Amino acid sequence: MTIRISPSILSADFANLEQELHRIDSADMVHVDVMDNHFVPNLTLGLPVVERLQAVSPIPLDVHLMLTDADRNAPAYAELGVSSVTFHVEAAADPVATAAAIRSNGARAAVAVKPATAIDLVLEHLDAFDMILVMTVEPGFGGQAFMANTMPKLARAREAVRASGLDIWLEVDGGIALDTVETAVTNGADVLVAGSAVFGGDPAERIAGLRSAAQRALDGR
Ligand code: DX5
Ligand code: ZN
Repeated sequence: MTIRISPSILSADFANLEQELHRIDSADMVHVDVMDNHFVPNLTLGLPVVERLQAVSPIPLDVHLMLTDADRNAPAYAELGVSSVTFHVEAAADPVATAAAIRSNGARAAVAVKPATAIDLVLEHLDAFDMILVMTVEPGFGGQAFMANTMPKLARAREAVRASGLDIWLEVDGGIALDTVETAVTNGADVLVAGSAVFGGDPAERIAGLRSAAQRALDGR
C-alpha cells in the first residue's frame, strides 16, 4: 500500500496560488476545496480557477466538491482533466451514476461522507468508486480538530475494500497533523489531506514529516 499526501490549498495564500503549488510539489497531489456557500457555510473557488490550477500545477489535482446538486455539477470538473473528483454522497441523488459520469471523463471517481453520515450506501456500491473520503471534521473550514469518532467508519471501509480486492483509495480530510496521522493510517487511510498542518510551516518539511509518520504507522499496521 502506498501513502499519498494531498495538501489542501484552503490554507494557502489565495493571492499566489501558482507559487503555492510549487511550494508543495513534493506532495503526491494537491487537494482543492470547492465550496458553494450552500452545501457548506463557506465560499472558495469554482470551475474557472480550477481550470487554471490544472493548467499550471506541477502535481495532480484532487478536487473536493462541497456543492449541492453533485449529479449536475461534478462532471464539469472531471472534464478539466483533473486526477480525481470527489463529491458528497449527501449532495447526490444518484451517486453511482455521478461516479460513472466522472469516470467517463477520465478522472478517478470519489465519494465523500460527512462525520455523521453512514457509509453503508457507499460500501454497497464499492465498484462504482475509485476513492472514498471519510471526513474527519465537519466540512467547511480548515484548522478544525480531528474527530476520532469517525475512525470506526474508516476501519469498516478499509475492511470492505480489502475484502473486495479493488484498488480503492481511502482518504481522510480534516485535522490531519503529526499527532493524528498514526490513528488515521492505523484505521485504514492511505490518502492524507492536510491544510493547516502543511501551510503552517515550511511546506516541504511538513510534507516530509507527515509522510514519514504515515509510513511508520503503515509499517506497524
Ligand atoms: C474542510 C476541507 C479541508 C480543509 C482541511 O472542509 O475539506 O480540506 O482544508 O484543513 P485542515 O487540514 O486544516 O483541517
Ligand atoms: Zn477537503
